[in-house]
Amino acid sequence: MESALTARDRVGVQDFVLLENFTSEAAFIENLRRRFRENLIYTYIGPVLVSVNPYRDLQIYSRQHMERYRGVSFYEVPPHLFAVADTVYRALRTERRDQAVMISGESGAGKTEATKRLLQFYAETCPAPERGGAVRDRLLQSNPVLEAFGNAKTLRNDNSSRFGKYMDVQFDFKGAPVGGHILSYLLEKSRVVHQNHGERNFHIFYQLLEGGEEETLRRLGLERNPQSYLYLVKGQCAKVSSINDKNDWKVVRKALSVINFTEDEVEDLLSIVASVLHLGNLHFAADEESNAQVTSENQFKYLTRLLGVDGATFREALTHRKITAKGEELLSPLNLEQAAYARDALAKAVYSRTFTWLVGKINRSLASKDAQSPSWRSTTVLGLLDIYGFEVFQNNSFEQFCINYCNEKLQQLFIELTLKSEQEEYEAEGIAWEPVQYFNNKIICDLVEEKFKGIISILDEECLRPGEATDLTFLEKLEDTIKHHPHFLTHKLADQRTRKSLGRGEFRLLHYAGEVTYSVTGFLDKNNDLLFRNLKETMCSSENPIMSQCFDRSELSDKKRPETVATQFKMSLLQLVEILQSKEPAYIRCIKPNDAKQPGRFDEVLIRHQVKYLGLMENLRVRRAGFAYRRKYEAFLQRYKSLCPETWPTWAGRPQDGVAVLVRHLGYKPEEYKMGRTKIFIRFPKTLFATEDALEVRRQSLATQIQASWRGFHWRQKFLRVKRSAICIQSWWRGTLGRRKAAKRKWAAQTVRRLIRGFILRHAPRCPENAFFLDHVRTSFLLNLRRQLPRNVLDTSWPTPPPALREASELLRELCRKNMVWKYCRSISPEWKQQLHQKAVASEIFKGKKDNYPQSVPRLFISTRLGADEISSKVLQALGTEPIQYAVPVVKYDRKGYKPRPRQLLLTPNAVVIVEDAKVKQRIEYPNLTGISVSSLSDSLFVLHVQREDNKQKGDVVLQSDHVIETLTKMALSADRVNNININQGSITYAGGPGRDGIIDFTPGSELLIAKAKNGHLAVVAPRLNSR
Ligand SMILES: Nc1ncnc2c1ncn2[C@@H]1O[C@H](COP(=O)(O)OP(=O)(O)O)[C@@H](O)[C@H]1O
Ligand SMILES: [Mg+2]
Repeated sequence: MESALTARDRVGVQDFVLLENFTSEAAFIENLRRRFRENLIYTYIGPVLVSVNPYRDLQIYSRQHMERYRGVSFYEVPPHLFAVADTVYRALRTERRDQAVMISGESGAGKTEATKRLLQFYAETCPAPERGGAVRDRLLQSNPVLEAFGNAKTLRNDNSSRFGKYMDVQFDFKGAPVGGHILSYLLEKSRVVHQNHGERNFHIFYQLLEGGEEETLRRLGLERNPQSYLYLVKGQCAKVSSINDKNDWKVVRKALSVINFTEDEVEDLLSIVASVLHLGNLHFAADEESNAQVTSENQFKYLTRLLGVDGATFREALTHRKITAKGEELLSPLNLEQAAYARDALAKAVYSRTFTWLVGKINRSLASKDAQSPSWRSTTVLGLLDIYGFEVFQNNSFEQFCINYCNEKLQQLFIELTLKSEQEEYEAEGIAWEPVQYFNNKIICDLVEEKFKGIISILDEECLRPGEATDLTFLEKLEDTIKHHPHFLTHKLADQRTRKSLGRGEFRLLHYAGEVTYSVTGFLDKNNDLLFRNLKETMCSSENPIMSQCFDRSELSDKKRPETVATQFKMSLLQLVEILQSKEPAYIRCIKPNDAKQPGRFDEVLIRHQVKYLGLMENLRVRRAGFAYRRKYEAFLQRYKSLCPETWPTWAGRPQDGVAVLVRHLGYKPEEYKMGRTKIFIRFPKTLFATEDALEVRRQSLATQIQASWRGFHWRQKFLRVKRSAICIQSWWRGTLGRRKAAKRKWAAQTVRRLIRGFILRHAPRCPENAFFLDHVRTSFLLNLRRQLPRNVLDTSWPTPPPALREASELLRELCRKNMVWKYCRSISPEWKQQLHQKAVASEIFKGKKDNYPQSVPRLFISTRLGADEISSKVLQALGTEPIQYAVPVVKYDRKGYKPRPRQLLLTPNAVVIVEDAKVKQRIEYPNLTGISVSSLSDSLFVLHVQREDNKQKGDVVLQSDHVIETLTKMALSADRVNNININQGSITYAGGPGRDGIIDFTPGSELLIAKAKNGHLAVVAPRLNSR
């Protein structure tokens, strides 16, 4: 069981129950000492954790430590705060019962430290809530704020809690922290105006002065030096080496924003803190009638501003008292002493009410947002109680009285819940048992709180009674009423010896934790907690939002006297006890090793004293004599029934018998357990742990079984669902396919039938029977046609149309042809176009008229028959800018002798030019060219007729060209003489010169012959061509 423990962990015993000599206090303390020397500060007494303050950082609260303690059995790991934390948490989750961790011990023993570590453990190890993860931060951050305002350095502890705190952490059913609530108890507000030597005021004042930014301090009218403030200098120790106010200030500022403080709220809050400091420095002076007057105007100015009150009213309220006599309100001036008293009362009231407001504010930020949701009901609560510890000072006053009374109450509760109830239970269950003697401190609780006879009742009575009641009359009353009480002593009641140690204004209580002598001075005042009515009124009208919430107007109209402080405290303690009783308790008992706050010092006297009054020895004895564990039969059976085949899954008989069968099956030995009337008692933890371990194993296999069958069921369901769906889809799809096929067949049959009918009636006029067929034939012709269109203009093929489409077919054919022609035309080049144009003109002129025309058709016309290099440059020079459109070699026949001479014929845009070598022989301007004559035969002679009014002109010209068709076509086009070409049969007459005409005769023959005939004519024999 202890396998995980190292040798170091086994120094001494880690559970006092294992101590051999368990009745010896010396052995107990020796065990504590041995462990403390090794820095082992935790030891158990059964489930109770005893903790000794090490006063040094032991590095035992890291994340690794937390992990180490999670989910393991209490006794398997060395004792630790986290073991308690984890056990409590698991009980909360598995049993779903609210839990409370009660941390007790005297001031400085480590309670607050332990509370913080517990909170940290839960914040870091619990699962995060689904919503509102900020709660964890706020739970943690509420601490520094509350400590700043509620903790102070005392002689016992540099960070002593001056208020009691009970904190609830709420967990949802998954174990995540979802909310929290804090109850605070009686803040020691007298500290605001007075501190004992060596003590300080609340931390916040020093933090603000040390850490506050220049700007903030200027706004608040504060100086950095705490020595300047009368409320901070009483204890004469503003600076403490263990406290870093500057750093703490930063922490507090950050924490304030985490817990939802707006910048404005922080400002308001700081205004109040500052106003308390200013109040302390507010002085009065007496006027002639010894009435008090405010003299510190600067302080007063800041006060009115920071508290947001009207100056005149406030001044009056500070120096006067309002008395109501016979229904009339009178203002009575205060003397110096009274004014100082009123001022201090105001400072205390302002500070303590602000503290209460702060707790309320924190609670609002911690409140779970889900309070309305149904899952809210299933939340469980873990309470952490960190209340001021038992305290003895040189001078003990009303506050110590309350604090120590509170500790008495909690000790009572501890006794009730552990010692007394334990023993009563054994008795009730009929278990053989030897009673353990212990000191029951009920007698002291009664001495304080009993009605009529208790100290609080007497104090209240003295406060309320008419007449001159003073602290001393209260003491007398005490002496009268409870003089016989064994735990009460005063100077008067004491014997000679003890009398010396008691002053006349003191009384002594013999607390469970020791004797404390209280000075009665201030008891009545503090219990009354009076604040003059006009000061209250002024504060009610404050413009500082926090102040106006703290001082409620309804308070003014409430005629009933408020409960005294002690009574209020008593009530709140009763409530606290009730809260704690409703929860499953866990205990942490803190011990302080020395009074010097030093590490490593083990002051035996001091520790023995604490061991004694904490009742640890009794606790141990009861533990050893008793049983570690008990449970109602029903609950035990319910939890462990799965471990025995006879009780699983249900046991039909009495639970008690079931448990008997079960433990027999588990092999419990007779000395290990006892059967009571309603419960089973198990003596040793290890027996229970063995059973728990068995349950854990069993649970695993049960869970596996459940999982397996659930998975089987789940997957079978899924499979069946899929199968059903598949079948459904299949049948539907098959149906669809079948229907489609049937429809197709039906359509096919109908079509075939219609075609046959139509074919039979194809020659009949169109009627419903043949319409389909005819349409079909037409469509197929057209569709076919699309694929069989002629490819080019020369292709004349065309499919045969059905009779009904003949006309359409013709139109289409025409369209198609036009389209092809159009396409062809678009695709020809400009040169080709010109060629065709000239060919067309040639055709127009010569077709069917001249015999050698057909031969010219396949030969392309050439743009010119002579290149530029073949024409003399002189000629070109003579032509100047005139371009040569066409040039061709020709033969010229003299008009007289018909001698052939080679010449060049040039066509320009304006004229026909006849060139002999380098000389322009003749130039015929187009307007002078009256006509051109050729024969109809195959020769190539032609005559240019020239206008002859002009003598310069030499007369008509007879020429021959090998390309006569080409030459003439080009000339006709250039000279615009297409219609002036005469094609003559037989002979041509031409003008040879002035008054002389010549004649050319043409005759067909076998070969070409050009010669002068005897009649003087030019005779041309043109060969017959095959075409004729
Ligand atoms: N577990 C601990 N480890 C280290 N130091 C501790 C521990 N517990 C207490 N202390 C020291 O003791 C001082 C007083 O402890 P605190 O918890 O404030 O006492 P209490 O609340 O019981 O009056 C702390 O400020 C811290 O310095
Ligand atoms: Mg504390």
